[in-house]
Amino acid sequence: MSPSNISVIAIDGPSASGKGTVAQRVAETLGFHYLDSGALYRLLGLAAGKYGIALDEEVRLAELVGRIDIRFEGEDIWLDSIKVGDELRTEEAGAAASKVAALPLVRAALLDKQRDFCRAPGLVADGRDMASVVFPGAELKIFLTASAEVRAERRYKQLIGKGMGANIAALLQDIQARDERDMQRSVAPLQQAPGAILLDTTALNVEQAVSEVLLHYRAKK
Ligand code: CDP
Repeated sequence: MSPSNISVIAIDGPSASGKGTVAQRVAETLGFHYLDSGALYRLLGLAAGKYGIALDEEVRLAELVGRIDIRFEGEDIWLDSIKVGDELRTEEAGAAASKVAALPLVRAALLDKQRDFCRAPGLVADGRDMASVVFPGAELKIFLTASAEVRAERRYKQLIGKGMGANIAALLQDIQARDERDMQRSVAPLQQAPGAILLDTTALNVEQAVSEVLLHYRAKK
């Protein structure tokens, strides 16, 4: 459990809602640490491929969590001393992440790794279950969402910006499939946690969304 004197801002929401960008900016503004919990599930999906483990082998995957070494350094992420590049951000990595994320033993095995990020002066954590499971005592809980169409456009721009190929119709389908899987799973399903503030960013840009989160945070002080 996170130490109660450390401020945690939990930002949960569906795929491509922009929560990663917003969470990072909020963390920078406040001088807080940042946890991209989705990256852990994405990394595990990649590691599974590397070690020849199928994405539904729950026990072996949970055991793999204990064996792999994951390091975050600013924008850079290292898996077993190898720097991970843009392969982490592909739709394939996202889909693999969503499959391993549905396995209860995997989620349990990743809990401590996530809570280790909770260090002074504070943490902004983004994911699906930050407010409900990982940091239930978070000082501020935000559920950040946007329409599926706007989210597909955002993901499109993000992939094109990284020089990757993308197709809006396929992205929309992928986002809807991932929403469905994330909301229907039995363990830590994607949902607005009790006490979480709903922030619909369909008509908001990043700066406006960041300001909203900061306003809510300062209102708590
Ligand atoms: O934003 P996007 O959904 O593309 O990716 P992400 O946040 O990196 O998460 C990838 C996948 O990991 C999601 O589709 C979820 O299934 C899973 N995930 C989760 O189950 N719990 C979290 N706290 C974070 C991500």
